[in-house]
Amino acid sequence: MTAEHPGAPAPLVDANYHARPYPDRFRELSRSGPVRQVLAPGDIPLWVITGHAEGRAALSDERLVKDPFNLPGTAAGLGRTRWPEDVTLVSGRQLLNTDGETHARLRGVLGPHLATRALMDKRPMVTAAVKVLLDRLADEEHIDLVTDFAEPLNTVVIARLLGVAEDACAAAMACCRLLLGPRHPEEPEMRSAYLEMSEALAEFVSVREHEDAGDDDLLSVIVGALRARRIRRREAVSMVGSVLLGASSPPVTLIAVACALALCDQDFRFTVASGSVECAVEEALRYQPPVSFSSWRFAREPLEIAGTRIDRGDAVMVLLAAANRDPRVFAGGDRIVPDRSGPAGHLSFGQGPHYCMGAAVARLQAQVAVPAFLDRFPTARLVRPLEETVWEGVLGDRRPVSVEVALR
Ligand code: HEM
Repeated sequence: MTAEHPGAPAPLVDANYHARPYPDRFRELSRSGPVRQVLAPGDIPLWVITGHAEGRAALSDERLVKDPFNLPGTAAGLGRTRWPEDVTLVSGRQLLNTDGETHARLRGVLGPHLATRALMDKRPMVTAAVKVLLDRLADEEHIDLVTDFAEPLNTVVIARLLGVAEDACAAAMACCRLLLGPRHPEEPEMRSAYLEMSEALAEFVSVREHEDAGDDDLLSVIVGALRARRIRRREAVSMVGSVLLGASSPPVTLIAVACALALCDQDFRFTVASGSVECAVEEALRYQPPVSFSSWRFAREPLEIAGTRIDRGDAVMVLLAAANRDPRVFAGGDRIVPDRSGPAGHLSFGQGPHYCMGAAVARLQAQVAVPAFLDRFPTARLVRPLEETVWEGVLGDRRPVSVEVALR
């Protein structure tokens, strides 16, 4: 039987949303069932899926589309605000706002070049970048894992993969973090970040177009596809944008959080030290996903999820952080169990056709960085518990503002 919509939805963000690694609000939403409506910032009604099975299914459900233009008739989806659409729209149609054949065509360009196998020969580059950064920190007493280690590492790695200068990459990713943050798109800083980002992306593409092709980087692959007319110019520009938007913050959070967990949890540290860093990194991803929610999807037609009716045009997101602690799948999901194994994995990289294109890049960085950090600074300790860290970000990336560490 279909349940009626429960009473007026409550705001998603409450007083302690930013004061806890795992906000109480996520727990309340899970307790109230696998699907619940809330008010996202901007008072946008939003269906939130907290159950693992329901979330997994929704992420592959073709009735939930990402492109608002795929909604029939006048269904507006977002309470008639273009806010979330604008954020992912930097420069045009791209992976996170297209569906079906268009999405598959775009995904086919970079997908093979970001697969685990394709990245195997990048490990020496990541290892060298980690070493340079650790050498630079050698004389420091205190550092911030976010800004002194994880962020510069991620910038170097993404700049090299993409084939752009490090300072240009850092500037573009700073714009991304602002655009993906909680501020309203009408604010002047947001408008100028949007413009700066659009110009930077267009320039990355046009500069490379006038250089010799054949370099072993993602920009060359994108420009190659443009020359071969597999994609249009705006799609090429947006594709660079989707890589930068996707990569700007989540790998930073993963590296910082995984290092921090190794400093405060003996089992986690032991798992890293005993050669199972892959398991430890997966548990860090499950326990503290760098992206709390999937991106937006809209109901193309009325549908039902776990007995709850979703109307045509309604916005739906999966609360990945809650699905990753669903007790039906992860026993003791609130605890860190670094050698956790089981048939169902976490949803931190999503699922289905929009599964994160950069998962292998993020895993590679964390798997190299965490053991190297512990080897170099064996007596490092957190200045304050992770529980006392302030977090920022609401719907997309959710990251610690800083993670201070005393190195010796
Ligand atoms: C720990 C790090 C990362 C996490 C947790 C993460 C998380 C996610 C999630 C949850 C999605 C799916 C969104 C949805 O279905 O609604 C996604 C998509 C995506 N991610 Fe990541 N991401 C990470 C790193 C990266 C990196 C390093 C890149 C680029 C190199 C990247 C590029 C993308 C792109 C392009 C998509 C869109 C894929 C599509 O729609 O087909 N991500 N990411």
